[in-house]
Amino acid sequence: MAVLVTGGAGYIGSHTCVELLNEGEQLIIVDNFSNSKPEVLDQIRTITGKDFLFYKADLLDREAIRKIFAENAVESVIHFAGLKAVGESVSLPLWYYHNNITGTLILCEEMQRAGVKRMVFSSSATVYGMNNPVPYREDMPTSATNPYGWTKVMIEQILKDLYTADPSFSISILRYFNPVGAHESGLIGEDPNGIPNNLTPYIAKVAKGELSKLTVYGDDYDTEDGTGVRDYIHVVDLAQGHLSALKKLRTETGVSIYNLGSGKGYSVLEVVKAYEEASGRPVPYVIGPRRAGDIASCYADPEKAKRELHWQAQKSLYDMCRDSWRFTEKK
Ligand code: NAD
Ligand code: WQD
Repeated sequence: MAVLVTGGAGYIGSHTCVELLNEGEQLIIVDNFSNSKPEVLDQIRTITGKDFLFYKADLLDREAIRKIFAENAVESVIHFAGLKAVGESVSLPLWYYHNNITGTLILCEEMQRAGVKRMVFSSSATVYGMNNPVPYREDMPTSATNPYGWTKVMIEQILKDLYTADPSFSISILRYFNPVGAHESGLIGEDPNGIPNNLTPYIAKVAKGELSKLTVYGDDYDTEDGTGVRDYIHVVDLAQGHLSALKKLRTETGVSIYNLGSGKGYSVLEVVKAYEEASGRPVPYVIGPRRAGDIASCYADPEKAKRELHWQAQKSLYDMCRDSWRFTEKK
């Protein structure tokens, strides 16, 4: 019996595949490479010394997805595949809704058809919207400020409705905070095309000398040093959270929601300092205006995952910066 991983060639998916293979799981990866490269699959094989099945397919291609279920004994699905750029989702909302929501609907329909009833889904802290107080708890109301975020809010609802209609499903909704870092081998990591939007990929390019300076988006927030505070989580910790969620899924039915964060917030300037220390390179910055849609602070209450999944983040901000830098240097 195998675990089907959608989006397994992507940033979080590839790290999770490494952890799953190391645990002895049989894997099938499906990806359309819309935001990843085929080389990642070889890197997963190199790191683990293990093999897996791969299908180059789009979740929107129902026949291709049906064929995967027909040809394999799939026991559960970890569903990463989706588009994730917030700004792009504002300019291309229909593409985001179609890819993320229709892709998930087709996947769920084909799972149901094949009798596969276990799913781990990649949600996001973005579903806490702008109005909840920190730290965020799983029972707080959800909302979004952009189409990307709405796809996560809507898919969470779709999965809850699916379980209500078919209680033999077992679904784990994981709300990731800010995933950063890379595998310690330096062979896989986050490698966005063009100029990065997110903080650590941008800092990495400044440290490497490919970009001249970071613009800090606002220093007048109600935080200790005035810059935005986020809950950064090492991608390998995050990957291990999926193993814990999968183990739990195998013992019960239901829908459970978990924050995967460290519970601790760091400011932009603290991240800059940690990256400078870990890389030994300067990260020049200027203070700019606030970025539209940003909030002052975002961090998790991680207690539910600790209690029910027996999982908690282990790695420090320094570890995240060191591993991001190792990957960046090797590129
Ligand atoms: P990523 O873009 O690196 O990985 C997503 C993968 O899915 C890519 O390899 C892409 O090619 C594939 N894909 C996209 N649409 C597809 C489709 N229709 N059919 C087949 N493959 C498709 O992103 P990531 O950072 O690894 O994120 C994984 C998941 O976690 C996403 O659902 C994302 O929304 C969610 N998430 C990410 C973050 C983050 O900051 N990285 C935070 C919270 C949630
Ligand atoms: C972090 C902090 C910025 C870039 C995003 C998505 C969210 C989730 C994770 C998917 C903020 C500041 C950033 C820069 C800066 N993704 N910053 N200069 O916005 O917390 O979350 O990724 O679900 O949905 O919105 O992450 O890395 O963009 O920003 O000062 O050049 O760094 O203002 O305080 P964010 P980020």
